[in-house]
Amino acid sequence: MHAIGIDISSFNAMISNVKISKHNLVLLTEAIKNITLKLKEFQKTKNNVLFEENLLSELGKYNLRYFPSPEYKRKVINGEIDEEEYAKEREGEFLNIYYNLIKKYHLKINQDKNENFMDKWFLFPVREEIDFLFHQLKNVHNSDIKEVLAIILSRTVRSCRATTHADLATLKEPVTTTYYCKKHGKICKPIFSITNWWERYTLEIGPLFKGQGKEARDSYIH
Ligand SMILES: C[S@@+](CC[C@H](N)C(=O)[O-])C[C@H]1O[C@@H](n2cnc3c(N)ncnc32)[C@H](O)[C@@H]1O
Repeated sequence: MHAIGIDISSFNAMISNVKISKHNLVLLTEAIKNITLKLKEFQKTKNNVLFEENLLSELGKYNLRYFPSPEYKRKVINGEIDEEEYAKEREGEFLNIYYNLIKKYHLKINQDKNENFMDKWFLFPVREEIDFLFHQLKNVHNSDIKEVLAIILSRTVRSCRATTHADLATLKEPVTTTYYCKKHGKICKPIFSITNWWERYTLEIGPLFKGQGKEARDSYIH
């Protein structure tokens, strides 16, 4: 079917064009592998990934103990637990563990500047990784591959804002610590590394391989 697409936003037009164009998937896969490798190398010089792993493990233990699922939510619904009071106390208690881990890993959380959206809505280690990948993309010379990667990076950036799970759409204030999450009924955390989202979204180029032949499919190693 012949069609014309119109969009007032040039960025959104770029998204649509990337979605409907044919790409050299062998080159794209190569570029993703290369950049992901560089990101991992970059992370070896930083502490945020280790910190986040440790924090997740502490959160897992704490939430299992104080917010077991589904018992905790059931008790809240039945009125056996006063959610506000209980959650506030537990939230404060976990903050001690959080701050101790920050000390242990010498992690810098806040950015130095607060001049624009990127300064305000991303924790320092996340901003560092975003800037690193942004810089890597500048070295990609094939303009089509660069556009696909730019879309994947932009999607990753959007998923890594320092916001609570309940506030993804409204963005009231950035969150820089662990917090009680009403949506999940447990203590949650902001994002300290872009790795998980970057890897998830680079994986999602998989469906592009449909009908692209064996060579392209075989080169896709995720
Ligand atoms: C739901 S999105 C759809 C995006 C795209 N068509 C797609 O399917 O991926 C709606 C789009 O309408 C665009 N838009 C809003 N007002 C517009 C206008 N007055 N003229 C052209 N495009 C507009 C927005 O920028 C946005 O990208």
